[in-house]
Amino acid sequence: MIAQVKEQFHRLFGSEPLIVTSPGRINLIGEHTDYNEGFVLPAAIDKKIVYALALNGTDQCNSCALFSNETVSFSLHDIRPGGGWINYLKGVVYQLQQRGLTVRGFDCVIHGDIPIGAGMSSSAAVEGGLVVALDHLLGFGLNRMDMAKTGQLAEHTFPGVKCGIMDQFANLHGRRDSVMLLDCRSLEYRYFPFEFSREYKIVLVNSMVHHSLASSEYNVRRAQCEEGVKLLSAFLPGISSLRDVTAAQVRQYRDHLPGKIYDRCLYVTEENERVLRACEHLQRNELQQAGELMYASHDGLSRLYEVSCPELDFLAGFARQRTEVAGSRMMGGGFGGCTINLVKTDAVPSFTALVQSAYLERYGKTPEVYVTSIVDGARVEEGIAVAGA
Ligand code: GLA
Repeated sequence: MIAQVKEQFHRLFGSEPLIVTSPGRINLIGEHTDYNEGFVLPAAIDKKIVYALALNGTDQCNSCALFSNETVSFSLHDIRPGGGWINYLKGVVYQLQQRGLTVRGFDCVIHGDIPIGAGMSSSAAVEGGLVVALDHLLGFGLNRMDMAKTGQLAEHTFPGVKCGIMDQFANLHGRRDSVMLLDCRSLEYRYFPFEFSREYKIVLVNSMVHHSLASSEYNVRRAQCEEGVKLLSAFLPGISSLRDVTAAQVRQYRDHLPGKIYDRCLYVTEENERVLRACEHLQRNELQQAGELMYASHDGLSRLYEVSCPELDFLAGFARQRTEVAGSRMMGGGFGGCTINLVKTDAVPSFTALVQSAYLERYGKTPEVYVTSIVDGARVEEGIAVAGA
């Protein structure tokens, strides 16, 4: 992919580009907890976006995406939301400017193999790759967390999804063969080795349902959680997010929470507790128990948080009946996309064949299956001399 992107860059722009790779992510457990200041357990994976990028000495940003065969330009002085993938680039440039940084015009070619709308954070990868490239070429000196926040704000202000920090964090902090426990309140994080990488594989099964409802319903869920905090604060003074509340407290005040708000709050508080318990199990090499928590997470996402869909329920339910699968659940924002499954390495081919034929029979389409490995976060692969350096 790098060679392809470089070749197209040479053809279109002639100069020598910087090459940046920027990964997608998985999340073992901790879904819809990040914007509630809770816990998540993501990792960067070997599906990625590749950038070839060089400064062009003008005020124009010209970008060609190989995946859509389209070249789009915008001026640094007039950046407005709009467009498809280019919207993410505009958002990043705009947010860098909002930080008081001087962005210069650039040419770039992008390509990628992260399936779009599959819950693997292709958008965070697009954002993170651009921040890393511009930071490198323009010497901004941003740290990785500031880069992640820039991507998150780009997402809020341009596509308009009020996302949490998980995707951008994972994209920029990934470490090979490690998952990361992130406290989305303090932004402290800890790596732990994914000890099971030989015995078990992380297998993603794509429902092939594009999560089109995701952005509008996502913002609705976020608002419902905030509403829950407001109502609960009458009884629990001083709370500022669902992070400050336990599942037991949500149950205790059930009568004061309208039905859906109760369900949303119960899910988030239970999920936070599950993430911490899953980490304890992982530390003790108890993958089966961690896997059980993934199934429980799926149930909560489906019944209480209502961000699943029949296809995802089918895939998680299918996995649950298979002894070679330790755990399975829908992953990411929901309403489509992938399930994440921990599958015994030697059973990956048979599991793949079985799940594909069962799904084909039921829904008339074959789900794509991705056997992933955990890699480093977004980084410069091939540098070029930095202007003025
Ligand atoms: C999307 C968002 C993340 C997170 C997940 C759900 O991927 O971008 O911030 O909220 O959904 O866990």
